[in-house]
Amino acid sequence: MKPYRPPSEPHPVREKFAQARKELSSSLIERDEEVDLVLTALLANEHVLLVGPPGCGKSLLLDSVLSWTGGTKFAILLTKFSVPEELVGPVSLTGLKEDRYVRVTAGKLPEADFAFIDECFKGSSAILNVMLKILNERTFDVGDGIVRKVPLKLCLGASNEWPSPETGKELSALFDRFLLRRAVSPIRSQPGRQRLLWTRDHTPKLSTTISPIEVEDARRAAATLTWSKEAKESLEVILKELSREGVQPGDRRQFKSVTAVQAFAFLNGADEVLPEHLEVAQHCLWDDPQEQPQKVSQVIAKIANPTGMRVTQLLLEVESVLGATDVRNLAEAAKAAAKLGEIDRQLSSMPGNGRLEKARVYLKDQLKKLKLASIEAI
Ligand SMILES: Nc1ncnc2c1ncn2[C@@H]1O[C@H](COP(=O)(O)OP(=O)(O)OP(=O)(O)O)[C@@H](O)[C@H]1O
Ligand SMILES: [Mg+2]
Repeated sequence: MKPYRPPSEPHPVREKFAQARKELSSSLIERDEEVDLVLTALLANEHVLLVGPPGCGKSLLLDSVLSWTGGTKFAILLTKFSVPEELVGPVSLTGLKEDRYVRVTAGKLPEADFAFIDECFKGSSAILNVMLKILNERTFDVGDGIVRKVPLKLCLGASNEWPSPETGKELSALFDRFLLRRAVSPIRSQPGRQRLLWTRDHTPKLSTTISPIEVEDARRAAATLTWSKEAKESLEVILKELSREGVQPGDRRQFKSVTAVQAFAFLNGADEVLPEHLEVAQHCLWDDPQEQPQKVSQVIAKIANPTGMRVTQLLLEVESVLGATDVRNLAEAAKAAAKLGEIDRQLSSMPGNGRLEKARVYLKDQLKKLKLASIEAI
């Protein structure tokens, strides 16, 4: 095994993650957070679930990440007619002739380093049970009674809807196996929509690839990041406040969120975990997808004030100001320009990061367009 490399030294695999993050985010429209989530999951050795309406880019992102990783891959689209053989391989005929009931797992989930399971809640109870064991325990018994470790490092799940609370035990258990879970929304901004319409190919062009060994190397380096005192305190306060609000993620979720936050800090090029890296915990620390994610995100923003979350909130404000303004009405346009100027002042007072810079460029562009449109209207 390779020795640990302290994260403060240049880390070539970290550079690869940074490059892939940039390339994925620049092709996929308004998917920065989803890109971060998937790369964080990869660094944390955890599974990730994206839930969103048809056609919002989930498969494009997940397929792109799988095209970046080397190793053995497995992808499947589940339907209620899918059978376990499609996931774990058929029973061996040669084995049967010898009175042995074993599966041939070549090319299937038990042999995959990286997996993408589309419509992951659609499978039958038998399928869900098989998946549950592989995702959770990362082991599989081909039928000979020997439980073997599977190489799986990351399972990417996608679905059009959250499993409802009335669904069976297997579904809720499988849902819980995804440490990082996020609702994906359709494109919100006007420039984003224009890019969607007038660019014919949104497939990210990735200049690197990453092997399972490199992923493991990065995971171990990320796990050595220490937590600053402030970040530790913030996480404890967040959990207390969440419990007061009636959000009590299970102990396993709380425990694993520590690794996810470390992974996110590593992805951000940090040498130690700071309160702002707690942003990613908003995707771990809840159980019920209906109201809890929003509550958790607000509590984390309030206590740890992560820049990224504040930027997202301010950008949503920009969209609502623009959406409510008739640019031909000079008084309205002036009011909107003043509001955008105020948002820009708030952005400029925040500690810099990539998303912040992008947000400021976007805001300046919108302000310019707003002014031009109202001049034209005179
Ligand atoms: N945010 C986005 N950025 C870039 N392209 C997008 C985006 N959203 C949708 N598209 C375009 O729409 C196509 C369809 O997206 P995709 O198949 O990834 O959706 P999906 O979320 O997986 O849908 P489904 O739930 O039906 O499987 C993409 O290949 C891409 O061209
Ligand atoms: Mg899809």
